[in-house]
Amino acid sequence: MIRSGQERLYSDLAWLWPTMSPPEDYVEEAETFARVIREHSRITPRTLLHLTSGGGHVDNRLRHDFDITGVDASPDMVSLARRLNPDVKYVIDDVRSVRLGRTFDAVFVDDGILYMLTEEDLKAVFETAFEHLVPGGVMLVYVESTPERFEQNRTDVTRRTSGDTELVYVENQYDPDTSDREYETTFVYLIRQDGRLSVETDLHICGIFPLDTWRRLLREVGFEVRETRFEHSEFPEGSSEPMFACLKP
Ligand SMILES: C[S@@+](CC[C@H](N)C(=O)[O-])C[C@H]1O[C@@H](n2cnc3c(N)ncnc32)[C@H](O)[C@@H]1O
Repeated sequence: MIRSGQERLYSDLAWLWPTMSPPEDYVEEAETFARVIREHSRITPRTLLHLTSGGGHVDNRLRHDFDITGVDASPDMVSLARRLNPDVKYVIDDVRSVRLGRTFDAVFVDDGILYMLTEEDLKAVFETAFEHLVPGGVMLVYVESTPERFEQNRTDVTRRTSGDTELVYVENQYDPDTSDREYETTFVYLIRQDGRLSVETDLHICGIFPLDTWRRLLREVGFEVRETRFEHSEFPEGSSEPMFACLKP
C-alpha cells in the first residue's frame, strides 16, 4: 500500500508545501549532498535517481549538478515538482517497489524514508536503490530519527508568509509506545488568506529504527556501508545527523 495520500500535506494540503518549506531552504543541504556523493563515488556521477523527491525543492539546486529522475508516490507533490523543475523527469510510484528498467550513477534517498514503518519497508527502499545503481555508484541517505536521539513531545512553531498566504504551523512529535517502531508527527496549520483563518490538522505516522538496524539492512542488501555526518548551519550548535554514503561494489 502506498502510504502517501494519508498525509494531508502530500494531498489536499500539498499547496502549502512551497510556503511551509520553500526551495531556498534546501540550497545548503543540496550542496552538501552533491559534494558527499562525489566524494564517495568511484565514478564521476552524472545521473541521479532521487527517491521521495516530494515537491522538488532539493532538486531545484541538485539539478545544477546532476541529470535527475525523481520518484514520489504523491501526484500532488509531483505536480508541484514538475512545475518547479520542468527539466527534471518525475515518476509517480512507490519507492519500495518501483523498477525503472535502467541504472543511475547515484541514488539519493530523501526524508520520505521516514514513512517506512517496518524493517521490510526500509530494506525494500535500499533494494530499490541498489537495483538502480551502477557498480561504483553511491546511495546517499540520512537518518532524521533514531530512538537514541528522539525527543519526546518536541514541539516547534514556525511562521511563514508567501504571497497572500500567511501560515503558522505547529509540529509535534510524540511516541505513544516506545516498544514499537512508529511515532506520530502531528501538524496544526493556521492558514490566513485575505484575513480569513482556517485551521487544519494532519497526522503523520513515521518509522524509527536504531542505527544498527540501518547498518544491518544496508549490508544485507549488498552495500559497502560508509558513515558520515550531515551538518547544517541551522542545526543546533554541535549537532548533526547520521548519514550513510553506501557504495555498490
Ligand atoms: C517531506 S516530503 C519530501 C520533500 C522533498 N525533500 C522536497 O525537496 O520537496 C516527503 C515525501 O515522501 C513521499 N513518500 C512517502 N512515502 C513514499 C513511498 N512509499 N513512495 C514514494 N514516495 C513516498 C511523500 O509523498 C512526500 O512527497
